[in-house]
Amino acid sequence: MNYIKRPRWQLSEAEVTPEHIFMNRRNFLKKASALTIGTASYAYSASNTAANAEASIANPNQPSGKVLTHHLYPAQTNPVYASAGREITDEMVNSTYNNFYEFGSHKEISNRAQSLNTRPWTIKIEGLVEQEQTIAIDDLILKMGVEERIYRHRCVEAWSMTIPWSGFPLSKLVSLARPLSSAKYLEFKTFFDPKVAPGHRQSWYPWPYLEGVTIEEAQNDLGFMVTGAYGKDLKKQFGAPLRLALPWKYGFKSIKSIVSIRFTDKRPISFWQQLADKEYGFWANVNPAVDHPRWSQKTERILGSNERIPTLIYNGYGEEVADLYKNLQNERLFM
Ligand code: MTE
Repeated sequence: MNYIKRPRWQLSEAEVTPEHIFMNRRNFLKKASALTIGTASYAYSASNTAANAEASIANPNQPSGKVLTHHLYPAQTNPVYASAGREITDEMVNSTYNNFYEFGSHKEISNRAQSLNTRPWTIKIEGLVEQEQTIAIDDLILKMGVEERIYRHRCVEAWSMTIPWSGFPLSKLVSLARPLSSAKYLEFKTFFDPKVAPGHRQSWYPWPYLEGVTIEEAQNDLGFMVTGAYGKDLKKQFGAPLRLALPWKYGFKSIKSIVSIRFTDKRPISFWQQLADKEYGFWANVNPAVDHPRWSQKTERILGSNERIPTLIYNGYGEEVADLYKNLQNERLFM
């Protein structure tokens, strides 16, 4: 694997905590932050290597519905992302405090999310590509291979955590898709199934959940397709079997349980943008100097602790991504 140079984190010495993988935090989560993305002021809320792995594909179409990729975890850690400069959030804390509106507009959706059947599961790669394809999730994972990266996650609601994700670079998926030169954006969609997801019966939401990035953003090394966490394959509440992680952007961009990736020349209008364009934009890059219209973004609460820390521009990943935006100063880059 080719790894880029280790990023220099924009953290002060005091903020950096020595870290051990899977270190447990004993402080369990205190209940609910008051700020939730949807309860907003809105009417709506009233309411291993690929080569080895390839050999183990039993049936590429997975009619059995079995998960064929358990054996890939824990994945080898990419040394570039072996530390996020913060203690890893306790797995129990992380997996019981989730935003997944398909299963409810509060944080305790983990039990409900277990009704999501994640095998068989296919991903469509469509739109402006040389050839559209539909690929079974385990075939995709086996083809791409998996690695572990420790990333920070900053929710627009001003809380944050640090997670050992497993998966593969989004840029690798772009290569697999072979986009045409006319493709400017990637549009991601979550599953839609009102029988399984009670949120889908709430017709005031613009389902399915949708997100987008530019093709340049998708080709940046930080963009990551997540298939596992904490050394195992992905829990349903985290957005199994495939979610996105864009650690320099607010968490709502990290779309869960993806079924389609469309290459397009039109800028996608995301789920939250459709609901509340003045509060949630296309770019959504983290910036402590640009407040959300209803709250400050200067600091963040670390989940599982009582600590509040200063928020960093691009969530501390500026060295990796700031260049993407140097010619876009007229855009609403930070919401
Ligand atoms: N993806 C879907 N499909 N549905 C959602 O409600 N919530 C987003 C994002 N992806 C969401 C989603 C928000 S607001 C955040 S902060 C993260 O998922 C939360 O991820 P976590 O539950 O793993 O912390």
